[in-house]
Amino acid sequence: MNGPDSRFKTIIEPFRIKTVEPIRFTNREERARALAGAGYNLFGLHSDDVLIDLLTDSGTGAMSSAQWAGMMRGDESYAGSPSFLRFERTVKGITGFAHVLPTHQGRAAERILCNVALRPGDVVPNNTHFDTTRANVEAVGATALDLPVPAARDTGSTEPFKGDMDVDALRRVLSDPGTRVPLVILTVTNNSGGGQPVSMANVREVSALCREHGVPLFIDCCRYAENAYLVKTREPGYEDKTPREIAAEMFSYADGATMSAKKDGMGNIGGFLALNDDTMATAARNQLILTEGFPTYGGLAGYDLEALAVGLNEALEEDYLRYRIRSVEYLGDRLLASDVPIVRPTGGHAVYVDARALLPHVPQSEFPAWALSCVLYLEGGVRSVEIGSVMFGRQPDGSEKPAALELVRLAFPRRTYTQSHVDYLAEVLDYVGGIRERVRGVRMVEAPPVLRHFTARFEPAHGSLLA
Ligand code: F0G
Repeated sequence: MNGPDSRFKTIIEPFRIKTVEPIRFTNREERARALAGAGYNLFGLHSDDVLIDLLTDSGTGAMSSAQWAGMMRGDESYAGSPSFLRFERTVKGITGFAHVLPTHQGRAAERILCNVALRPGDVVPNNTHFDTTRANVEAVGATALDLPVPAARDTGSTEPFKGDMDVDALRRVLSDPGTRVPLVILTVTNNSGGGQPVSMANVREVSALCREHGVPLFIDCCRYAENAYLVKTREPGYEDKTPREIAAEMFSYADGATMSAKKDGMGNIGGFLALNDDTMATAARNQLILTEGFPTYGGLAGYDLEALAVGLNEALEEDYLRYRIRSVEYLGDRLLASDVPIVRPTGGHAVYVDARALLPHVPQSEFPAWALSCVLYLEGGVRSVEIGSVMFGRQPDGSEKPAALELVRLAFPRRTYTQSHVDYLAEVLDYVGGIRERVRGVRMVEAPPVLRHFTARFEPAHGSLLA
């Protein structure tokens, strides 16, 4: 039988556990010290000082026994490894693209794409650029333009596809003779915009517009399997299709994709650039050799390619996706019940707390989402990540502009935590929600010029994090 028994409604983890990894309990005093030592930047913590690590769903998941078995047959030949051929066959089978270039992770694929496709002064529209994509676009002197639909800014709206791109805005950009657009990117799901899915209807419309203007469409497909499942459950006409069929349709509307296989590739490392254009593929392979490695390994070990060849298929399994999307929704439901405002509806890989709504007394200049993420660690040992003005506030010209949203993302590593971990999280969030009025802002005291959130240092703006 496929799928759960309809007589029982509890959606269980569709796996059992073979290897366990202990987590370490710390007390509040130890965490206060760790936090100060890290300059109030959760990226600076030692991970064994973290109880539940929701910093990212990237490369942090548990691999399956089939993946580990695959790793044992990894062939480490420098050129022409059968492990690469299995990886390539898998990616081609899922995406249908003609050329597959392995990379060590997603941003390497982005860097190569930006280097071969962009020139200074170009404009790249995206529903919402992820931070590394934006940085790679800007690194070649091009402008990264976010065109989310208006509903994306309304955290309370329960529209099903808030990850969509604003098609009218895209039409205006593409029709402007003064704007050079060599590439359009769709990020599925829209990570920086709350993990919200992109509808097939939107992919189709964006694709048609790109084709009309002769501009290639690339998909940033890190979480395409989760997106496919959300299309299946939310978009009329897709109920009876498999996630694989839905993914195949989505890729058929695009000319290429960049992928961080640390997400829906179920790997701890890896990525790829896949595309149809032969000339662009040749230029990209030359770039690949320059910094990543020979085109049949691209910075990965043969065993990594094997783990991904298996993992990419596992991420499309419906039992897995049902559990995955439900676990995120379950935490979202618990937070809403505790009156903790979140981006609604919950999307693919994470719950996003709306820090501006939770902490209206903390001004954006004092980074409310950053402060909230520090308090979640201090009180509960939970590590999350700010997606707000620290991550996105600094403009290419060095000026400061508050981000559209101040979010704290609680990202779920794949197949790693169980329901009791999630119950604990809900309790911590409920507790912090109860002391929301005491939470105070932070001040940035040191920051690098790009991707500052990784290494910036902070201090409490008013003496301590809590009044
Ligand atoms: N695109 C999106 C939408 C991403 O979420 C990420 C990574 C990347 C590209 C870059 O991939 O890390 O393999 O180089 N996101 C992680 C996160 C880091 O925490 O959301 P990478």
